[in-house]
Amino acid sequence: MYRSHTCGELRASHANKEVTLSGWVQGVRDKGFMVYIDVRDRYGITQLYFDEEQTEASILKNAQKLGREFVIQVSGKVQERASKNPNISTGDIEVLVSKLTILNEAKLPPFTIEDDTDGGEDLRMKYRYLDIRRNPVKDSLIFRHKVTQEVRNYLSKEGFIEVETPYLIKSTPEGARDFVVPSRMNEGQFYALPQSPQTFKQLLMVGGMDKYFQIVKCFRDEDLRADRQPEFTQIDCEMAFIEQEDILNAFEGLTRHLLKEIKGVDIEKFPRMQYDDAMRLYGNDKPDIRFGMEFGELNEVTQHKEFNVFNKAELVVGIAVPGGNSYTRKEIDKLIDWVKRPQVGALGMVYCRCNDDGSFKSSVDKFYDQEDLAKWAKITRAKAGDLICVLSGGTNKVRAQLSALRMELAERLGLRNPDEFAPLWVMDFPLLEWDEETERFHAMHHPFTSPKPGQLELLKTDPGAVKANAYDLVLNGNEIGGGSIRIHDKATQSLMFDYLGFTPEEAKAQFGFLMDAFQYGAPPHGGLAFGLDRLVAILGGQETIRDFIAFPKNNSGRDVMIDAPAPIDDEQLEELSLKLNLKS
Ligand code: AMO
Repeated sequence: MYRSHTCGELRASHANKEVTLSGWVQGVRDKGFMVYIDVRDRYGITQLYFDEEQTEASILKNAQKLGREFVIQVSGKVQERASKNPNISTGDIEVLVSKLTILNEAKLPPFTIEDDTDGGEDLRMKYRYLDIRRNPVKDSLIFRHKVTQEVRNYLSKEGFIEVETPYLIKSTPEGARDFVVPSRMNEGQFYALPQSPQTFKQLLMVGGMDKYFQIVKCFRDEDLRADRQPEFTQIDCEMAFIEQEDILNAFEGLTRHLLKEIKGVDIEKFPRMQYDDAMRLYGNDKPDIRFGMEFGELNEVTQHKEFNVFNKAELVVGIAVPGGNSYTRKEIDKLIDWVKRPQVGALGMVYCRCNDDGSFKSSVDKFYDQEDLAKWAKITRAKAGDLICVLSGGTNKVRAQLSALRMELAERLGLRNPDEFAPLWVMDFPLLEWDEETERFHAMHHPFTSPKPGQLELLKTDPGAVKANAYDLVLNGNEIGGGSIRIHDKATQSLMFDYLGFTPEEAKAQFGFLMDAFQYGAPPHGGLAFGLDRLVAILGGQETIRDFIAFPKNNSGRDVMIDAPAPIDDEQLEELSLKLNLKS
């Protein structure tokens, strides 16, 4: 038996008990005639005690030789400590060691394995197995397990069946590039790893599975950010014989359950917002509604004067920064520099101070009088003491810029409280999105999304205006899930592929299997997928998903621990018929 108890378990009530513990050496305090060792495992830390009088000389000597992260097994008697440590759960006791076995020695770790470590991100990733010994990472993984477990319990109780779908498939269009896998047995042919199990879950509905879910890895070759990994996990769900309202209720139920069980937060009904309103009021399809600072569109109250920057802009839009009038001129200049950074891309920023006496002082006083500025304040809901920040330009660009500024200021003002949870459904997304690069429409969600009832005709005349039965679930300004009601008849699906620029041959080659299935009795269906990594991170009060993934990739998509991706040898290339292809 390696252990009778864990290192987090012993209390004063265990005094005088003989115990055996196993774990890693966190630290050694050697005072010559007595030695204290902290031994750590997943559950906690226990102090081990050795002294000249009570410990055999050879054991004391061995204890003095222990290094950090050695794996040891000790047996001994639990005793109450003379000076207790209220900061740890085992702080009342120590174990007077009578037997010490070194199970394995350890090289000196490249960083200290403590909550606050001296290891930088790269080093920690290279030695991730050591990083996982640290509480913050270990706790995040345990937290993820809890969330996952709750999801499984809840959905199973609601009658959902977890079905596994294949990883070696054909391209699923979710808007990213595919990771591909060459097939040895089919020369020159490739599988694609799923960007999502979208088509399979729809086929499961045709198969009569009715309520499906899967906690599933998805693979997307796209640029990485704090909330994106090339392989990530979805809670993928689909239901048949449902309307949009049924889906929203089902997954609002799941989210509410998680908030309650995991965070102890009760939220009655999630608010809903039209996509168009989200864009108009927050410049963003995933607004953080924990705080206000809603946009005020100022075209009408700015374009009547001689200020050309505003006059030629498609949109003039501002936000009121609470208490912002206290910013010094230098601070405001810094803010202007911030919006002009290439990542944000604004050409400049106009501002207006709202003084305590009700007067205004703007950076464009030459053009606008107090009456004009009072209108700005009214529209942006600025109060005395606030600062109005105004940007102008093309509608989409300027909304994105002001949205970035809104989030930055909220962060600086401490308005993004990680302990507060503000879910929001964003509804009725456009069906199509214009892509400047390819100069054609793409499906905003994916090509299986159905247009809103009665809007199919509009596709011919004004495709950009067609709205979809598509919805996203937003939590604290992060898209944690998205889904839609699907097309379930062949004619509409063919039409959709046609509008998206697929020739009938291309559509048949890529998605013939789905359209065939639609001819054999496809029920009305729809669904949604949560990003599990994001959901877990946000419930855990963070926005970086990396710490909630055991072995994440870095920003270049590399696993620096196993050093992947890596070249493969010639023989393997040849076997996969890749060698010739690469050379030609
Ligand atoms: P979508 O593409 O919106 O929908 O993805 C669903 C959710 O997955 C998360 N997500 C990611 N998380 C981490 N890293 C990534 N690279 C990444 N990409 C997406 C997001 C997102 O909301 N098949 C559809 C769902 C459906 O229609 O039912 C789909 O995949 O949180």
